[in-house]
Amino acid sequence: MKLERVVLVGGTGFVGRVVANRLSREGITVLVPTRRSIHAGELLVIPTVDVIEADVHDPATLERLFAGADAVVNLVGILHSRTGRPYGPDFARAHVELPRKIVAACRAAGVPRLVHISALGAAADGPSEYQRSKAAGEEAIHSADSAPAWTILRPSVIFGREDNFLNMFVRLAQRLPVLPLAGARARFQPVHVEDVAEVVWRCLTEASARGQTWEVAGPKVYTLRELVEYVSELSGRPRPVVPLPEGLALLQARLMELAPQPLMSRDNVRSMRVDNVATGAPLPFGMTPAGLEALAPTWIGDSHLRARYYPMRSRARRARHG
Ligand SMILES: NC(=O)c1ccc[n+]([C@@H]2O[C@H](COP(=O)([O-])OP(=O)(O)OC[C@H]3O[C@@H](n4cnc5c(N)ncnc54)[C@H](OP(=O)(O)O)[C@@H]3O)[C@@H](O)[C@H]2O)c1
Repeated sequence: MKLERVVLVGGTGFVGRVVANRLSREGITVLVPTRRSIHAGELLVIPTVDVIEADVHDPATLERLFAGADAVVNLVGILHSRTGRPYGPDFARAHVELPRKIVAACRAAGVPRLVHISALGAAADGPSEYQRSKAAGEEAIHSADSAPAWTILRPSVIFGREDNFLNMFVRLAQRLPVLPLAGARARFQPVHVEDVAEVVWRCLTEASARGQTWEVAGPKVYTLRELVEYVSELSGRPRPVVPLPEGLALLQARLMELAPQPLMSRDNVRSMRVDNVATGAPLPFGMTPAGLEALAPTWIGDSHLRARYYPMRSRARRARHG
C-alpha cells in the first residue's frame, strides 16, 4: 500500500509528537490539525510535518483534511469530563462522536487505513466514564467494518521524557513532604512512548495489522505505589507514600476537580479499580518492549549514578525480604 501522506488527529499531544517524528524519519508527509497552533510546539520544526488550525469536530473540515491522505491516526484523548451516564458529554464528544466522524470522513475522502488509539481497560461495563467512553469509541471504529481498514491500539500508561504521568509525581515529590496516593495498589504495565510510535508505524505498513485490536504495554508490571516510590527516589527526593483508602481518595479527587486543570478526578480514581495490565504479549509484531528502569534514569534525576543505584537497591531489598 502507498504510504506517503498521513493525518494525525490529536498529533500535538505527548504521543502524537513522537509518532510524527517517527513518520517524518520515514519521509512521510504528516498533517497535524490542532485547535490552537500554539499547542504544536516542536512539531513546527520537524521536516515533512505540517500543522494546521482546524475544528476536527466539523465533518466537512475533517473530510477536507483527509483528502489525498493514505492513512489517518486518531490520538485524541482526554482524562476529564463533566459527568454523565454512561459517560459525560466531553468524553462522548472526544472519545465517541469524534471517532465516528473520523470513520465517516475516511470513507468520504477515500482514506484506506485508520489507526485508532484507545486504552487498556476500555470496557462498556468499566468502573469509570473514561473506560466506558473509550469502549464506545472502539465500537464506533468497528462500525467501519472494512472501510477504512482499521487497527485499534490499547496502551497501558505511556512513559517518556515528556509524559504527564511520571513527571507529575516527580513534581509532587519536589513540593510535598509525603505523597498521599489514590489507587496505590492499582497495577500498571508502563510502555515507552517510542515503542508506541513504532507500533503505530508498523500498523500503518503491515497488512497483518488490519482489523486487529492490540494491547500495547511494557515488559514489567508495577503497582502505582512502586512507580511513585521509584520516581521520587530517582528524582533525588525520596518521599514516603501514604496510600489513601478509596473513600478518602474520592474526597481528595473531588477537591482537586475544583482546579482549572485537575491532577486527579473521581473518575480517574474509579478507573484504578481495575488493573491496567496486558492479558498477553505486551507488544504486537514480536517486538521487545523497552524497560522503564533502563530509560527513566536518563531524564529523571541525576541519571548515571541513579541508573546504577536503584536496581541495586531493589535487588538488595528483595534479598532482605526473601
Ligand atoms: N499518555 C498515556 O499514558 C496514555 C495511556 C493510554 C491511552 N492513551 C491514549 O493515547 C492517545 C494519545 O494520548 P496523549 O498522552 O498523547 O494525549 P495528550 O498529550 O493529552 O494529547 C491529546 C491530543 O488530543 C487533542 N485533543 C484534546 N482534547 C480534544 C478535543 N476536545 N477535541 C479535539 N482534540 C482534542 C489535543 O489536540 P490540540 O490541543 O492540539 O487540539 C492533543 O493533540 C489518547 O487517545 C489517549 O487516551 C494515552
